[in-house]
Amino acid sequence: MWTDTHTHLYLGQFDEDRSQVVERALAAGVSSMYLPNVDSRTIDSMLSLEREFPDQVFAMMGLHPCSVKDNYREELKVVESWLGRRDFCAIGEIGTDMHWDKTRLEEQKEAFLTQVRWAKELGKPVVIHCRESVDITLELLQAEKGPQLRGIFHCFTGTPEQARAVMDLGFLMGIGGVLNFKNSGLDKVLESVPLEYLVLETDSPYLAPVPYRGKRNESAYIPLVGARLSDLKGISMEELARITTENAKSLFGHPTK
Ligand code: NI
Repeated sequence: MWTDTHTHLYLGQFDEDRSQVVERALAAGVSSMYLPNVDSRTIDSMLSLEREFPDQVFAMMGLHPCSVKDNYREELKVVESWLGRRDFCAIGEIGTDMHWDKTRLEEQKEAFLTQVRWAKELGKPVVIHCRESVDITLELLQAEKGPQLRGIFHCFTGTPEQARAVMDLGFLMGIGGVLNFKNSGLDKVLESVPLEYLVLETDSPYLAPVPYRGKRNESAYIPLVGARLSDLKGISMEELARITTENAKSLFGHPTK
C-alpha cells in the first residue's frame, strides 16, 4: 500500500475527472492521499474531496507562501478559524518561495512562523514548501526547534548538507517525480539518507515523473517514483511502500474529522 503525502487533487486541473483520478490511484495501490491547502479559495473543493473519500483522503490547513499577498493577515485569520473548528492532519503547505516573488520575503516569513507556532501549539506536523529558499527556511525552523516541531520538507531536491540539516531537525523529506528526471542529482544525495527520513509524494498536478514528464501528474504515478527509490535503496517495492507509508502514518496520525 502506497501513500501520496502531497497531492493537490482538488485543483481545477482535475475538475473533469476528479473521482476517477482518485479511483485510479486506489487501483494502483495508493491507499492514502494527503491534500496540502493553498489559500482561502481552495478550501471548499479540498474539503469536498475529503468528504467523498473520508478513509483515503486527508486535508491539511494552511496558507501557501505564493498566496502571501497584501491580504495575507486576513488569509491567516481564515486558516486560524478553520484550525479552531476541526482537526487536520497537518498545517500545510507553508514556507517560503524565492522563485516567483522575491519582494514578499518578510511577509512570507511572518506568515510561516505564525503557522509554525500554531502547529506546535496544536501538536501537528508542518508540510513545508521552500523553493529556492531551503537555507532561509532551515534557519527559521532551527530557531523554533523543539519536541513539538516536526514535519516534511516537501519536494526535497537539496544538497547533502541540507539533507543533514533536515534530519537534524527531525524532519522528513518528500520525494517525488524529480527523482526520475535525468541528471537531477537527487539520487546521489539520497544514497546517504536513511529510509526512515523519506516519504513519497507526487505534488499533482505538477512535476509528473518520467514517462509523463510535462503532463498532468496524478497520485496513481506514486509507484513510478517508488520503483526508482526502491532500486536506489536496493529493497523491494513492497518493502519501500510499507516503510514510506509507515513514516507518513506515524507523522500524520489519525485526524478525527
Ligand atoms: Ni504543493
